[in-house]
Amino acid sequence: MAATQIGWYGLGSMGLAMATNLQRHLSAKKSLNLIFSNRTLSRGDSLRELGGVPETSFEKVVDKCGIIFTMVSNDAVLDNLVTSITSSGLSLRSKIFVDCSTVHPDTVASAVSKLQAHEASFLAAPVFGGNPVATAGKLVFALGGANQATRDAIKPLIQDVMGRKVIDCGDDATKSSLLKIAGNIVTVSLMETVGEAQVFAEKTGLGTGLMEELIGEAFGQIAGGYSKRFWSGSDGVSSLTSGAYAPPLTERPGFGVSLAIKDANHALSMAKERGVELPGVQLARDNMVAAREYAGECLDSSAMYGILRQKAGLAFWNEKSRQGGK
Ligand SMILES: NC(=O)c1ccc[n+]([C@@H]2O[C@H](COP(=O)([O-])OP(=O)(O)OC[C@H]3O[C@@H](n4cnc5c(N)ncnc54)[C@H](OP(=O)(O)O)[C@@H]3O)[C@@H](O)[C@H]2O)c1
Repeated sequence: MAATQIGWYGLGSMGLAMATNLQRHLSAKKSLNLIFSNRTLSRGDSLRELGGVPETSFEKVVDKCGIIFTMVSNDAVLDNLVTSITSSGLSLRSKIFVDCSTVHPDTVASAVSKLQAHEASFLAAPVFGGNPVATAGKLVFALGGANQATRDAIKPLIQDVMGRKVIDCGDDATKSSLLKIAGNIVTVSLMETVGEAQVFAEKTGLGTGLMEELIGEAFGQIAGGYSKRFWSGSDGVSSLTSGAYAPPLTERPGFGVSLAIKDANHALSMAKERGVELPGVQLARDNMVAAREYAGECLDSSAMYGILRQKAGLAFWNEKSRQGGK
């Protein structure tokens, strides 16, 4: 049986790292090289050097591939891609779409039904872990949708390639997206907590270095990772306290603040509909919104740290962050 051609769309902070690992895997197995595209195609230059094959549009990737991964910012972008492809006139029969973005379960349900009408499958495969984890190929995936056989066909492209663990969420793709949103309750609350602890450490004279050492040692890799956040393209050692929450305007943040606000909004709206309160998420979200109002889009999700600093009488910027600008 001929090998299935794999495609990729979306080369942001996460997508480029993930696609790079996938291309390396395909190349090592002497399989067909990854066909990729992105709104800004030049983001794929390094992928092309590894043997990946650029295409100028999502439609061309879909036309040439049997399995198509997507990793884009938000619900509107994913919905646009699905709508554009289902109204393109292309035959989508038996194609498998695997979306790794963080989107609302309603967006997933809509994608499933639009693609089912064209005899194609849509799997949701949102991920846990930031850019450094993606680069290391150690993400945790929540994979759901279609049927066991389809998910089993996708798993070898993920396990020990892009991820260290695939959580199988079953045939209902919306379950994966729900798990991701539930996981984000922990993520954004933890970022807020680490930011609060670091401001406390600075104001009490304890010092952020000692605090960072403790967070990494006593509260594990994830909490430590939030203290040691860095932007894509940086040396990987700059910590939150070293300014990565507000990277230079020329850099792409590791996890853009608007993406984290979107995640918090999804959790808050779903919680409200069900009479659940998420005060920690609300606080973290409000601090991220305030940070974006103050310092614009070029901020990491950990930028609530800047607002926590301001509330404690410190400057939004610390000595290692950029010093202003939006
Ligand atoms: N970063 C993290 O730590 C992290 C962790 C887990 C999950 N996530 C989720 O993973 C997804 C991707 O995150 P990311 O950090 O990689 O985001 P990102 O760096 O902002 O990249 C977003 C991607 O979407 C594309 N895009 C944006 N607007 C578009 C449009 N209107 N039309 C077509 N393409 C568009 C971008 O293209 P361009 O390159 O042309 O801008 C880029 O490929 C998000 O849903 C995020 O919530 C992120």
